[in-house]
Amino acid sequence: MKIFKTKKNLNSYLSLFDKNISVGFIPTMGAIHNGHLKLVQTSKNECDKTICSIFINPTQFDNSEDFHNYPKTFNEDIKKLKESKCDIVYAPNVLDLYKKNEKAKKYNFRKIDLFMEGKFRKNHFNGVATIIEKLFKIIEPNKAYFGEKDIQQLQIIKNLVNQINSKTTIVGVPTVREKNGLAMSSRNKLLSNKEKEKAAMIYRCLNYCKKNRLQPISKLKEYIIEKFKKTKELDLEYIEFVSLNSMLPIKNWGEEKNNVVCIAAHIKKVRLIDNIIL
Ligand code: PAF
Repeated sequence: MKIFKTKKNLNSYLSLFDKNISVGFIPTMGAIHNGHLKLVQTSKNECDKTICSIFINPTQFDNSEDFHNYPKTFNEDIKKLKESKCDIVYAPNVLDLYKKNEKAKKYNFRKIDLFMEGKFRKNHFNGVATIIEKLFKIIEPNKAYFGEKDIQQLQIIKNLVNQINSKTTIVGVPTVREKNGLAMSSRNKLLSNKEKEKAAMIYRCLNYCKKNRLQPISKLKEYIIEKFKKTKELDLEYIEFVSLNSMLPIKNWGEEKNNVVCIAAHIKKVRLIDNIIL
């Protein structure tokens, strides 16, 4: 596995590739877990070469404490990526990607960013899109892989490739879960086993919606809000029922597989998100 720290070295290496070789790309912020490795596996099944980036993108954090506390496990990440036979890792420092004091670009996501992560994390998606646009311009992947756990981010990226006329195909990959249902996330590394058990309630609530899909949305919402109120370790930030394509809230169920129930909650200072497509 080749590891590059600069876009210059990465590009000189990529320029040696035959034009017909397909490249799959997985952008990450490190703290690699089985969810990332499933993206690597999917890329390896579909593309000739797989590239992973490891870069904690400062412009997508609205909270500097969250940015500084983000788990950093570079050596373990490299080991895991090597074992999963990823071909190339690009792990730059900030100045390889941003000019000094450079801010996130402003995009128009046509309302996809109005609710949930877009509402609670100001400027978050401008930061995500800024870094993805930069990475896509450097790597020019044929396909890029994103986890469905960050469903709103996935829809934002699909919108971004249209805005910037990118030829990259965006592939969403289903969420990988711990045995207890908790969605795999880099932030889980900040939780004890006991806290992970508590946090699995998020998935139980999503599953409750699946099992009770015939009930009105307002009733399910009420049930989940009450459930969180009774669980003192977990603070609910939002529960939203949205349409999959627009990411806008719905009052009534739409067609099957077009509805998403999304939850964001805090356990201690760790912020977790999850969703289920119904
Ligand atoms: O989902 C993430 O880990 C990040 O938002 C991403 C896509 C790597 C951009 O920094």
